[in-house]
Amino acid sequence: MTSPDHFLHIDDRTPTALTELLDRAASLKASTPSTALANRTLAMLFEKESTRTRLSFETGMTQLGGHAIFVSPDDTQLGRGEPLKDTARTVSRYVDAIMVRVFDHEDARTIAEHASVPVINGLTDVSHPCQTLADLLTIREAFDSFDVKAAWVGDGNNVAQSFVLGCAMVGIDCAVATPHEYGIDESVLDRTAAFDGTITTTTTPHEAVANADVVATDVWVSMGEEAQREQKLEAFDGFQVNDTLLDDQRVLHCLPAHRGEEITNNVLESERALVFEQAENRLHAQNALLTTVID
Ligand code: CP
Ligand code: NVA
Repeated sequence: MTSPDHFLHIDDRTPTALTELLDRAASLKASTPSTALANRTLAMLFEKESTRTRLSFETGMTQLGGHAIFVSPDDTQLGRGEPLKDTARTVSRYVDAIMVRVFDHEDARTIAEHASVPVINGLTDVSHPCQTLADLLTIREAFDSFDVKAAWVGDGNNVAQSFVLGCAMVGIDCAVATPHEYGIDESVLDRTAAFDGTITTTTTPHEAVANADVVATDVWVSMGEEAQREQKLEAFDGFQVNDTLLDDQRVLHCLPAHRGEEITNNVLESERALVFEQAENRLHAQNALLTTVID
């Protein structure tokens, strides 16, 4: 039996396949709804909160003629301790793909290992590849190409790790500014080395944004990190994306944003911000992904 076409990390795809996926997203953006996934079902397993991921996947399945089922531990046997591997094998007997948003990436891997249908990562502690698809689509729309330079300012978190991999894969050089103790994992930086775009790191936000056309950021305190809040706010002092840091760079944020922490209200509400185009593109990028992994 061939392994299902899981999507757990952005570099599960080759750069060519990633570009094809983005092209398909652009094409679907112009042409949905379709019946490509008529009678197909996506199970969406959420261990933590979501607005964009839940609504875009559910809407996407509707637009493609299929159906999505929201699953949470609160109202399934998962919450009473049914093992992930049993859940994965059972759910695979009903649906055509499974989207998972879990705290521990190992849990996503366990589900993928035991599922007989494709598993899509809708955010784990280490990556958010669906977000990166939307980010890249948004950059390409805004600049008409990937001939740009990017910067990441803030936490070297799940969103950042997928973002730098995605940038490297499409040939975008990205300068990353994080506090020393909250940098992107060395193993992720090592993976970027296989691709055309170069990822550099610094602890100085001004240095990172100096040559950038687009600056991306995300919250300083991710879901599940609430106990570290005070410590992180202290560490990120000076890393806010604000008018002092920026010139005329375009700005990405996966949302939800914490105005006054990682980004100012002024920047988010300015013409520089691409954040709602980016949020919309979750839908189109994931529609492309769904029609690729569900055969
Ligand atoms: N950007 C993103 O994944 O948003 P949600 O947490 O609302 O799904
Ligand atoms: N880094 C954030 C992203 C939310 C979409 C988190 O993990 O909470």
